[in-house]
Amino acid sequence: MADKQSTKNKHLACIILAAGKGTRMRSKTPKVMHPVLNLPIIKWITNTAQSLNAVKSVVVIGPDMDAVAQAVTPCETVIQTERKGTGDAVKTGLTNLQDFDGDILILLGDTPLITQQTIQDLIDARHDGNDVRLSVLGTFMDNPDGYGRLILDDDGMLDKIVEHKDASEEEKTVDLVNTGAFCVDAQTLRTLISAIKNENAQGEYYITDLPALAKAKGWKTAVSYCDDENEVLGINSRQDLAVVEDIAQNRKRTQMMENGVTLQDPFATYFSYDTDIGQDSIIGPGCVFGPGVKIDEDVEVKAFCHLEGVHVKSGCALGPYARLRPGTVLHENVRIGNFVEIKNTDFGKGSKANHLSYIGDSTIGEDVNFGAGSITVNYDGFTKHRTHVGNNVMIGCNVNLI
Ligand code: UD1
Ligand code: MG
Repeated sequence: MADKQSTKNKHLACIILAAGKGTRMRSKTPKVMHPVLNLPIIKWITNTAQSLNAVKSVVVIGPDMDAVAQAVTPCETVIQTERKGTGDAVKTGLTNLQDFDGDILILLGDTPLITQQTIQDLIDARHDGNDVRLSVLGTFMDNPDGYGRLILDDDGMLDKIVEHKDASEEEKTVDLVNTGAFCVDAQTLRTLISAIKNENAQGEYYITDLPALAKAKGWKTAVSYCDDENEVLGINSRQDLAVVEDIAQNRKRTQMMENGVTLQDPFATYFSYDTDIGQDSIIGPGCVFGPGVKIDEDVEVKAFCHLEGVHVKSGCALGPYARLRPGTVLHENVRIGNFVEIKNTDFGKGSKANHLSYIGDSTIGEDVNFGAGSITVNYDGFTKHRTHVGNNVMIGCNVNLI
């Protein structure tokens, strides 16, 4: 296998901004730890950054954000002690890139759906010949409210970025917005960062001052355009979170159907970022897939099932109303019926539990039949004991396996 280090791009480093308080979320949890498809917002962006093989990715976090630091490993973190704005956050990130000489990619930690290709286009724009030192990722938005606006000059070149709160009425009519992603050569960034001032409506140091400062020095800025505004929506509020979740669910639903999975009611089927379902499986309405679910080919999941942390092998039929909990493996051709809960159990090939059972911490053999109302009783209040059932066992109704 190729050494991972050797494929690193020595000319690229990332600074990801995640220190903001996220006041508009009204949450005790840092904004970037809220989940989209059950993966924290910040992980979406650090995963994408890692796919670029940058030599280093630095995540700027606040002083009280240990959970974020843990979530983003192996990315480095640096603490911005006072939240003085995105410009100050980038300056803080730069302290971890002192000897770096190449492109610095600045990404916002609250924009999870941005794709690797869009970022690559932004990097390419920075190398578009003609001595470009800075590239900015812009997009046209139907409702640009709240976003910074890209103000172009008469030649169509970027003049400056104006934040919504500082924009004139005329500037507010501009629908070309700043997505927050920049690619800038390290020396240029170091030169300009100290020139950023906080004389604006929010009294903050804005990274968005970069293009105007570059222009004042006669340095060129390019705009890279993202065609899909949905990809670059920033999450600032619970409403934004719901909109982004919906977009991500739809992406995942489309991907599933393209891979040959039938979704009887796609909009009533909820996936996690890592749900993996094999060809010709059929999913009924109202099913929810938590993290860590793998379903093989030719499985039927009937309406209203809830699955999390399970592997379902081919030919199984589940539900309606089944609940499968973490640590469960259903081997081939298993039948699980209504109101059956299975946890941390290896359930053998061809076995059945068709009605009203709880089966936890167990190893069940092949071709076993659980009668209605039969359950495992293997927790004595102190220890969870494991229940073992061999092959070809017929368990009657209302049996407690102690
Ligand atoms: C920002 C941009 C705006 C752009 C929008 C795109 C600025 C000044 N504004 O606005 O032009 O249209 O994103 O979504 O850059 N952060 C820190 N430290 C701070 C402040 C913020 O790390 O002191 C981080 C936040 O955690 C967040 C990101 O920077 O991940 C952006 O901050 P946010 O407050 O969400 O900026 P917006 O108002 O969305
Ligand atoms: Mg934001």
